[in-house]
Amino acid sequence: MMNNEKKCKIKILKNGPYLVTGNVPLSEKIIVSKGKINVFEEGRKLPQAEEYTLCRCGQSKNAPFCDGSHERSGFNGVERASRAKFEDRAEVIGGPNLDLLDDNRCAFARFCHRKDGNVWWLTENSDNPNYRAEAIIAASECPAGRLVAYDNTGKPLEPNYEPAIEILQDSEKEVSGPIFVKGNIPIESAEGYTYEIRNRVTLCRCGESRNTPFCDATHITMKFSDK
Ligand code: FES
Repeated sequence: MMNNEKKCKIKILKNGPYLVTGNVPLSEKIIVSKGKINVFEEGRKLPQAEEYTLCRCGQSKNAPFCDGSHERSGFNGVERASRAKFEDRAEVIGGPNLDLLDDNRCAFARFCHRKDGNVWWLTENSDNPNYRAEAIIAASECPAGRLVAYDNTGKPLEPNYEPAIEILQDSEKEVSGPIFVKGNIPIESAEGYTYEIRNRVTLCRCGESRNTPFCDATHITMKFSDK
């Protein structure tokens, strides 16, 4: 659902935090391995507000919220990500009964792996209805929006999300993960450019992504912890 009626928005402040407006629900989710798949479990309860600022520099002592540390650390919040649209950036993996678009913008959340195989293998074997169904789950659960499954008519198969923000923690890797932005919340750059509005996207909050403002999984190699 393309639901922007609530007028929610994320504004990136120059060399500072993400300013979230419009009463966007905020929660913490923990990535937990269950056999060969990953699931989200509920994390800490976080305070709700009409407006709040989320740390982007990785230095806050009050994460996920900004506490002004970005000023003391001289955070460079330059935005480097391509502004080309997803469908123009993505590679197409054509399967017999499903197409997969993959833009390689990976947050390493690992939801692309299912019991029978990964999303690429499942797509290539989508003439099997079970593998096709699993491929759709594997693509749709990718929080980064790197992976989108398309049916034979060219329609994207997206989960139905209301606007919400989830702060991810990765218990298996023992790191803190990115900000999962769900439900087509507009994200505006520091200069006023609105990025392509998407149902799923992950924003960097360790301050070290090379593809800012989006997550590129650097939080794992740098062992980012928001504690
Ligand atoms: S952006 Fe303000 S403390 Fe990190």
